[in-house]
Amino acid sequence: MTNIALLGLGVVGGGVAEVISQNNDTIARKTGEHINIKYILDLRDFPDHPLGGRVVHDINTILADPEVTVVAEMMGGSHPAYDYTRAALEAGKHVVTSNKEVVATFGAELLRIAKEHHVRYLFEASVGGGIPVIRPISSCLAANELTEVDGILNGTTNYILTQMIQASKSFEEALAEAQQKGYAERNPAADVEGIDSCRKICILSALAFGKLFSPNGVHTEGITAITGEDVANAEAYGGVIKLIGRTGLVDPSDPASGVFMLVAPHVIPHDNPLSGVDDVFNSILVRGNAVGDVMFYGRGAGNLPTASAVVSDIIDIIAHKDAEIFVPDWTSVSADELVAQQTLPYAFLVRVRIDATYDAACEQIRSVYPGVEILTNSDAYASVLSFVTPQTTESELKDALSTIGEAVSLIRIMPE
Ligand code: HSE
Repeated sequence: MTNIALLGLGVVGGGVAEVISQNNDTIARKTGEHINIKYILDLRDFPDHPLGGRVVHDINTILADPEVTVVAEMMGGSHPAYDYTRAALEAGKHVVTSNKEVVATFGAELLRIAKEHHVRYLFEASVGGGIPVIRPISSCLAANELTEVDGILNGTTNYILTQMIQASKSFEEALAEAQQKGYAERNPAADVEGIDSCRKICILSALAFGKLFSPNGVHTEGITAITGEDVANAEAYGGVIKLIGRTGLVDPSDPASGVFMLVAPHVIPHDNPLSGVDDVFNSILVRGNAVGDVMFYGRGAGNLPTASAVVSDIIDIIAHKDAEIFVPDWTSVSADELVAQQTLPYAFLVRVRIDATYDAACEQIRSVYPGVEILTNSDAYASVLSFVTPQTTESELKDALSTIGEAVSLIRIMPE
């Protein structure tokens, strides 16, 4: 039997307790051992929960108990989650987590501490909820030079955008539903402002390129400014708007060319498989120089899908408990080392408030971008013009717009 401790009995912690209680015999059949949840650390008491008697309020009870070999951290937030994780690793306990904030901020250091103490720090649940993506990238695709990772990485925003696109619901209504279903973060600003996706793409980037860029400096746009007009323009162009995290090599054939990373709403053309990823589902496309494109798809948030990933890490530890497993080395670096996103080649879906007449504005835009696709119908009184540029860069586009009018929205079109 393996004794574990859960840190946090919220949405994910509750899900982990449920999965272990439901599937313990199945787990034992696969690993030879049952899992025993010996302690649950939480600020609250749970008198009505079947494991309510195992709740403790002091981390030292867990750290001091040599029978506990695995700690599952599902507290959320940086502190005290980071401090408890560090203390558990230093006490010689394996740690598994769903906490992307801690992995994205302190992952390099925690992996190093895990290595020094011959224990493991696993975080399958930190990206993509229940989708197996961390272990497949680190193991199954290890033979590749990875060149790009793109993903719909946040279930809450994907749920909201889907409801706005397909059911004409308001942003607020759809967010309330996502919160009620347990998808959203404690502070949903982290979801809708792209911060959660940013942490996840930083983790994926570290897996792909070995460098953990600080999430703070990564260009991050959320979905709060997306309107029904943007949704309609994307449809007129032939796509849907999705919040995308992207990271990759600027020149896929040259690993020294530099890494780019950003989080922003993108128009996904209907022929791109990411366009069909709706509701709470997430999807991650990984491009490798041997395998080509691989896509992962599944439920990116919610108690049981995320618990599935947490428990899979516990099972991995039990299954390999006598092995010395290779632990990756990540270097922690500033986001200043990323290639500036303003220089990345993109076509843009643009809405601009025009000062001139419709015809004059179209002429001005065509003089800069002869291949431009104007989406707004001819209307002498139109004050806002929508169009799609040919491939350009954000820097060039902003220069061009300064002579045409005030930009209302700029949305990138996902390249092939
Ligand atoms: N709030 C996150 C989401 C939870 O909506 O995707 C899973 O990380």
